[in-house]
Amino acid sequence: MRTAIIYRSFLGSTRKYAEWMHDSIESSDLFKPRQARDKKLIEYDIVIICSGTYAGWISLRGYLKKKWPILQEKKVILLVVGLVPPEDAESVAAYMKIPENIRQEIQYFKVPGRWGSRNRDAVKKENLQPVLEYIQGLAS
Ligand SMILES: Cc1cc2nc3c(=O)[nH]c(=O)nc-3n(C[C@H](O)[C@H](O)[C@H](O)COP(=O)(O)O)c2cc1C
Repeated sequence: MRTAIIYRSFLGSTRKYAEWMHDSIESSDLFKPRQARDKKLIEYDIVIICSGTYAGWISLRGYLKKKWPILQEKKVILLVVGLVPPEDAESVAAYMKIPENIRQEIQYFKVPGRWGSRNRDAVKKENLQPVLEYIQGLAS
């Protein structure tokens, strides 16, 4: 299955996760949002959107909404990066800002990010294990 990995990263953690996934997933291509135009996206079976969280907003939620007419035909994974753990109310609130019809169709993961010296050692390839297992499941 052809996989597009689309990421936006200001501080570097999301880029690191996107690159690790690109290394781990056969037939995958890595894009920034402006490179992944409609004609490109159409070629893929799986689309992984990787985004940091800033002040309670998942930065690529707008991209996800805008591209949903194309993405809804595909397996979509949203990988969100941030300091706040996934079960925290703040993380849940950020995720809930994505429209319900989209939330129902995507697979969501939140993994630890870092910010300067905060959470310095938290960004690890092992954090992607559940994501990679989910993707393997899609292919089988
Ligand atoms: C201004 C600012 C606001 C942030 N707000 C949140 C937040 O609301 N929730 C969260 O989980 N992390 C938050 N973080 C942490 C970032 O999500 C974390 O640093 C992550 O690694 C950012 O991704 P990036 O390294 O790819 O830019 C914030 C960081 C900054 C700099």
